Amino acid sequence: MQKLISAFILAALIFIPSISSAKGNHETKSAMLIVSFGTSVPEARKAIDNLVDAVKKEFPGVDVRLAFTSNIIRRKILKEHGESIPTPSQALANLNDEGFTHVTIIPTHMIPGEEFDEIINVASAFADMRGKFGFEKISMCSPFLTGVKSCETVAEILMKRFESQLKDKETGIILMGHGTPEHFANAQYLQLQLALNQKAYGRFFVGTVESSPSIDDVISDLKRNPQIKKLILSPLMIVAGDHAQNDLAGEDDPESWLNILRKNGYKDISKYLVGLGEDKNMAHELLRKIHALDEADE
Ligand code: CO
Repeated sequence: MQKLISAFILAALIFIPSISSAKGNHETKSAMLIVSFGTSVPEARKAIDNLVDAVKKEFPGVDVRLAFTSNIIRRKILKEHGESIPTPSQALANLNDEGFTHVTIIPTHMIPGEEFDEIINVASAFADMRGKFGFEKISMCSPFLTGVKSCETVAEILMKRFESQLKDKETGIILMGHGTPEHFANAQYLQLQLALNQKAYGRFFVGTVESSPSIDDVISDLKRNPQIKKLILSPLMIVAGDHAQNDLAGEDDPESWLNILRKNGYKDISKYLVGLGEDKNMAHELLRKIHALDEADE
């Protein structure tokens, strides 16, 4: 039932009911809250920071904050680096306390899965709050892979990202998404695969670390494309964190995709372990989504 409720909220287009100002004619104060899953891998953090910087640069007058949805990661960062990163609800409470009236929530998640549902829950709760602890308006962007058109956009970005590698007709790009086994949003990976097939059939192979398509599905697909002899492994995630370093490309882990693919006869495998958040076209797409919210308002 929980999932169904979130589906309805999602269908209402992630447009958390704008509580428009019945509050009189005082000044409005706007903030943006970027919400990421987070990463505890220090080198991977720059992918998130890149998105934050892009938003700050695009909206110089607006306060831009960051929250992480992963409590495990938040606690690890606090313990190891002394850096306190709020949850989305803490960040919203702080913004309210500082007198902000309008907040745009900007998730950096790839699919509208479980983590995104959690953000909707928090945003909806705050949107329902009236009086001095509530906001006048909360709006929210959708994740990168939400629907046909956005999958086509990400496919376009991936075509540019691997433009030079794609020139070699024997090269296949293996992309590792996260995946979510119990959520309909997992289907977005197949939607993306379709969009990639339409642009470059037999060149991109999308799999997920925790769900379907699995690495076995990727291998079956590779076998149907015997012209592909060289592989590039890359994360289909905002950060190249733990999953990219270990589950995808770990040399020592016999279960890593790298080693599974080697066992399946692929000898020429290279790694491109750069988070999508570092891609300037992904940052550009995030900014486009934020501007699109304004336009929807007018
Ligand atoms: Co994970």
